[in-house]
Amino acid sequence: MALSVRTRLFVAVALTLFSARFVHAAEIYMDHKIPVELRVKALLSRMTLVEKIGQMMQIERSVANASVIRKFRIGSVLSAGGSTPEVNKPEAWQEMVDSFQSGALRTRLKIPMLYGIDAVHGHNAAYGATIFPHNIGLGCTRDRELVKRIGAVTALELRATGIPYTFAPCVAVCRDPRWGRCYESFSEDPSLVRKMTDVIYGLQGVGPPGLPFVAGRSKVAACAKHYVGDGGTRKGINANNTILSFEDLVKIHMVPYFDAIAKGVSTIMISYSSWNGVKMHANRFLITDVLKGKLRFKGFVISDYQGIDQITTPPDANYTYSVLASINAGIDMVMVPMDYKGFLSNLTSLVNSGFVPMKRIDDAVRRILRVKFSMGLFEHPLAERSYLHHFGVQGNKDVAREAVRKSLVLLKNGKDKSQPFLPLSKKATKILVAGTHADSIGLQCGGWTISWQGSPNDTTKGTTILHAIKTAVSKPTRVLHKASPERGYAARSKADFAVVVVGEPPYAEGRGDNQNLTIPAEGLRTIKNVCPEVKCLVILISGRPLVVQPYLHLMEAFVAAWLPGTQGKGITDVIFGDYEFVGKLSRTWFRSVDQLPMNVGDAEYDPLFPFGYGLRMDIKHKTP
Ligand SMILES: *[C@@H]1O[C@H](CO)[C@@H](O)[C@H](O)[C@H]1NC(C)=O
Ligand SMILES: *[C@@H]1O[C@H](CO)[C@@H](O)[C@H](O)[C@H]1NC(C)=O
Ligand SMILES: *[C@@H]1O[C@H](CO)[C@@H](O)[C@H](O)[C@H]1NC(C)=O
Ligand SMILES: *[C@@H]1O[C@H](CO)[C@@H](O)[C@H](O)[C@H]1NC(C)=O
Ligand SMILES: *[C@@H]1O[C@H](CO)[C@@H](O)[C@H](O)[C@H]1NC(C)=O
Ligand SMILES: *[C@@H]1O[C@H](CO)[C@@H](O)[C@H](O)[C@H]1NC(C)=O
Repeated sequence: MALSVRTRLFVAVALTLFSARFVHAAEIYMDHKIPVELRVKALLSRMTLVEKIGQMMQIERSVANASVIRKFRIGSVLSAGGSTPEVNKPEAWQEMVDSFQSGALRTRLKIPMLYGIDAVHGHNAAYGATIFPHNIGLGCTRDRELVKRIGAVTALELRATGIPYTFAPCVAVCRDPRWGRCYESFSEDPSLVRKMTDVIYGLQGVGPPGLPFVAGRSKVAACAKHYVGDGGTRKGINANNTILSFEDLVKIHMVPYFDAIAKGVSTIMISYSSWNGVKMHANRFLITDVLKGKLRFKGFVISDYQGIDQITTPPDANYTYSVLASINAGIDMVMVPMDYKGFLSNLTSLVNSGFVPMKRIDDAVRRILRVKFSMGLFEHPLAERSYLHHFGVQGNKDVAREAVRKSLVLLKNGKDKSQPFLPLSKKATKILVAGTHADSIGLQCGGWTISWQGSPNDTTKGTTILHAIKTAVSKPTRVLHKASPERGYAARSKADFAVVVVGEPPYAEGRGDNQNLTIPAEGLRTIKNVCPEVKCLVILISGRPLVVQPYLHLMEAFVAAWLPGTQGKGITDVIFGDYEFVGKLSRTWFRSVDQLPMNVGDAEYDPLFPFGYGLRMDIKHKTP
């Protein structure tokens, strides 16, 4: 067949243009030199609805594998609390994440999957990771530069396991310690929580103000949570109703998000709780109008675990409605986390029938891609083997030990000022160490450690307080240890003094709610058995202030150590006087639970120890 010159010329030009355009489009989103917004636009324009919805789904690792991720174009995978690979070692984490990633990289558009985990006090699910004090203790340090370094260490240890995304920091403003998640909150005082959002700079690095940003492969994407009002629920009941005017909601619970957004936080997680009776997961006003509109948040909004499922409850549970309400409220990525087929089919039909507008889907995917591009995930989708060397190393543990030292709050020291009891002598002849919490890594770490709710057992590596005491004292000093001594034991022991370490069992959300806030019976018995017989320092290991007023007179000295994590030597550094106490209460210490909620600034304020309280030993020539 003979073609005219004109036709041949036309075909040649058209082909050139077409292929140039095609290659150009492909290059644009794969080319890291092209600005992020152009890459987002180029990629989004090529995506089908199924590919878009895939990006919006986050599934749990237990239902994930490379073929599921490939087939359903899954955009993200998470570890639920305590969901770890069978062998809990950094290498095994890396292999798992990479194998999931291989599925994503074999899809048509090769959009990498984003793996996320709750690393809330260090990389707490990974065996052998450095475990830091929970946020309540970090609030007592008032040290922005320290929390930044903690963020940096956490990011490195996450990257050592191939993970580029953490569901942290929790910027809850806990207004009632009866809430079981109170220890995840830096403070009851919004302005202190605002300062502590500097941890985001440590996790992600410092970028252009107000834009999601992750500074390369040694950093991770962060997530401010739980938007909004999680710490303000009635009686501290987890995921319950926060009853407040909009003005107070902003003033108390929303302000930390101003800072998190300004510092470039990549993602924000929605709270299970309700605001004035409306589930946050369905609150279009607070998510779309306020967070994305007024606050100009440019990263993506993620649901909590099965958070959208709770929008409707049996007998009126209706998953279709839950999907409709949550996506139209403005949630971009959903922790499905199991039934991805159900989510996909529901959202697909809701879009096809016009109940969810395509521009809402595009907004969600644009935000998810923006985060993935800005964190360099397309350039470096796989785990970096060389980061294994950062995992649980001494330098990281030193940061945690420093954090423990600075988080301790001295609440009583001697019967009066002229007779201080601390610092303790390292040269005592005999020391009695007693209490349930003296020799347990699991108890001093608390919830969100290896498993979701935590464990009283030695579930990971670390130094217990007992071990730290044995290491700190002089060679000839005898350290006697009994977890639950009976009456008379301390007197017979002829110890110079006793260190009694008691506190709460480990717990996390839900199970940690507590309406009485008493020291558990076994610990209370130990205080009552030991302290009248031998002068004692009581160290409380707890996720919040507990009722102590009735027992305070028995104690010679009293230290709140919160949930210090794996580095017990941070405690002995201070009680033996190598370092000064610098911690100040991040919360009000109430007298009795019937005062609750009671927070700094309240008109009626009659605490046992006020917000900001904390004694010094006044040791000379020693610095923190
Ligand atoms: C991946 O998971 C799916 C769904 O559970 C299962 O059908 C499939 O066999 C799994 N594939 C592999 C390779 O394990
Ligand atoms: C709050 O808790 C009460 C009592 O447990 C329960 O009946 C109610 O449904 C909860 N409200 C919300 C909004 O979760
Ligand atoms: C469930 O919700 C969807 C979306 O609002 C609605 O169309 C459907 O009728 C509801 N189903 C039932 C059984 O109420
Ligand atoms: C919505 O999801 C539920 C749960 O998986 C499923 O039973 C139902 O068939 C889905 N509905 C649609 C319209 O896809
Ligand atoms: C702790 O260890 C004990 C004894 O080995 C065991 O019975 C218990 O189940 C463990 N607890 C947890 C929460 O793992
Ligand atoms: C206090 O509440 C906790 C949690 O509900 C419970 O386990 C404990 O037994 C209660 N203690 C007392 C003394 O009532």
